[in-house]
Amino acid sequence: MQTSTLEPIAAAASSAVRINPFNAPLGAEVLGLDLAQPLDDRLFRRIHQAHLDHHVLVFRHQRITPAQQIAFSRRFGPLQIHVLRQFQLQHHPEILVVSNVKRDGRPVGLGDAGHYWHSDLSYKEKPSLGSMLHAQQLPADGGDTLFANMHLAYDTLPVALKKAIEGRAAEHDYLAQYAQLQRRNPWRPDLTDAQKAEVPPVRHPVVRIHPETGRRALFVSEHFTTRIIGVPEQESRALLDELFAHSVRPEHVYRQRWQPHDMVFWDNRSVMHLATGCPDDQPRTLYRTTIEGDAPF
Ligand code: SIN
Repeated sequence: MQTSTLEPIAAAASSAVRINPFNAPLGAEVLGLDLAQPLDDRLFRRIHQAHLDHHVLVFRHQRITPAQQIAFSRRFGPLQIHVLRQFQLQHHPEILVVSNVKRDGRPVGLGDAGHYWHSDLSYKEKPSLGSMLHAQQLPADGGDTLFANMHLAYDTLPVALKKAIEGRAAEHDYLAQYAQLQRRNPWRPDLTDAQKAEVPPVRHPVVRIHPETGRRALFVSEHFTTRIIGVPEQESRALLDELFAHSVRPEHVYRQRWQPHDMVFWDNRSVMHLATGCPDDQPRTLYRTTIEGDAPF
């Protein structure tokens, strides 16, 4: 077998990287890796596998540019552009600015992103495989993000509940909570007809199979799931409420307490997340990329 002279260098780069699982139902911290540098294939495979194993990876100390975040995100698939184009980062449409900062009275980003539990872009035919969020500016108080392990949520469902949702599909609608969010946050823009046409309601299985690991996961959220198809309205509401409450039980949840320059990469096929919020007068800004995934099955 021929050996490349680059192999020892790649092996050394890979061994300097440490992946430390959290003492939590999901998540691991990645140390000793600089995402400003392109990853060789060996290291990429290791990170990819860790992402499948732990569902949320927290890369510490990442002083990367938006272009470098985009380049790393693209290693996992094509990127999705958020329907609220108002909040794209200038010159980088692939980045959604998540921020509570206002400039001249106007929001620079989507300040209430993640206000309800959700999986990113579940309202699309092809929801997001994963998302990356890079901390730019963090508040002194609050601003944590919670992640719920939806494999565990499914595995621990009572048998009767598993039976009730077996083979069922649910509707996901971007507009489900939009008016409610606008009432809370009047700065939220009205959607144009073209924007509304981009996000018609879609149907996905209530329990999806992870396309890479084959594990089952619950795939409904309080933000976007409106009803279970083929079930009377009241029963559907009651089922969804039970599923939501079960999904986010403390034993399924990891709390991300942000550190400066953290870059967090989560698997939307395995987890839901929630932004816990912070005081309005404390600036919080993060840059988000989302990677397109498969149609759930
Ligand atoms: C999001 O839902 O993508 C934002 C999460 C956060 O700001 O913590």
